[in-house]
Amino acid sequence: MFAPRQVFGTFQRRGFSASARQASKVAVLGAAGGIGQPLSLLLKLNPRVTQLALYDIRGGPGVAADISHVNTKSTVSGYDPTPSGLREALKGSELVLIPAGVPRKPGMTRDDLFNTNASIVRDLAKAAAEASPDANILIISNPVNSTVPITAEVFKAAGVYNPRRLFGVTTLDVVRASRFLSQVKNTDPANENVPVVGGHSGVTIVPLLSQSNGADLSGQTYEDYVKRVQFGGDEVVKAKDGAGSATLSMAMAGARFAESLLKASQGVKGVIEPTFVDSPLYKDQGVDYFASNVELGPNGVEKIYPVGKVTEHEQKLIDTCLVDLKKNIQKGVDFVKQNP
Ligand code: NAD
Ligand code: LMR
Repeated sequence: MFAPRQVFGTFQRRGFSASARQASKVAVLGAAGGIGQPLSLLLKLNPRVTQLALYDIRGGPGVAADISHVNTKSTVSGYDPTPSGLREALKGSELVLIPAGVPRKPGMTRDDLFNTNASIVRDLAKAAAEASPDANILIISNPVNSTVPITAEVFKAAGVYNPRRLFGVTTLDVVRASRFLSQVKNTDPANENVPVVGGHSGVTIVPLLSQSNGADLSGQTYEDYVKRVQFGGDEVVKAKDGAGSATLSMAMAGARFAESLLKASQGVKGVIEPTFVDSPLYKDQGVDYFASNVELGPNGVEKIYPVGKVTEHEQKLIDTCLVDLKKNIQKGVDFVKQNP
């Protein structure tokens, strides 16, 4: 029988009566990595999280011991890299965040990570389908455009697929879209809200500037802005010079998305986040997954918002996005069919 190597503290939530909904176990798979560590730390600081389960193929218990000293009420457990360790980490989780896998090096596309990360995500998805079939699954591992369909196929094969509970985390694109616009306009990013739709790589990332308040960039400034949002990840990869990709900003983005889901599951209404989900928006064009604004609720996806009114140029960006997205999605689906 497996027992968590380390369990620290007790869990209780101030100001809430005890109920299943209020006790939120959150698991992080890949918790000892560049994203996993700061993400786990931010989750430890979130009072909605009552139990934090940290799993990695190496170093999970060490990260758990360290984070457990932070004086918030949640318990933190680190798990051994064994099938039973993984199962225990997942069991009873309301949220499962997956940043496990290799990051890019300069010169690589996210799709270049497919060969390594597809099987990592497939295997973790298999474990989640068995141990936590009702959890919200948040996929961070790249290429997100393919790893989300991989997870869906695994859940379908296990007979437990619920499209309302699977999310590709694209929050970082929205964070960047806001920050980069504030830099162009010299404003507070808190006031800059730019919807970003499509997928999570290069031209599949489509910022809809026409839908943000008072952003009338034009000409080269507009072109540069769109390109920076689409290729913001490359900026970090280049600057890190072989040491990986965005980790800290991604941890912030992942923690924001987790908080939104927990908030919505605890009954807060009107929580809207952009995320890459099984979406009806472009199914007629053979694109089964698409990121757009999604209202979250106790059952996960509550409402998928259409893209809305866009400019002619933005429509062209969406058309280009759909071509790549369709191929990325198919690649993920085919992978699971060929490597079940
Ligand atoms: P990293 O190498 O620093 O960390 C990855 C961690 O995953 C490591 O600790 C490793 O031991 C662990 N791991 C590998 N295989 C595992 C398995 N089978 N089970 C459990 N853990 C396993 O990488 P990182 O910088 O944290 O990036 C992780 C992934 O997130 C990459 O694929 C990266 O491209 C992606 N990413 C996505 C976004 C996004 O916006 N969605 C942003 C940044 C990075
Ligand atoms: C990002 O957008 O920063 C991530 O997808 C990591 C990467 O490879 O760029």
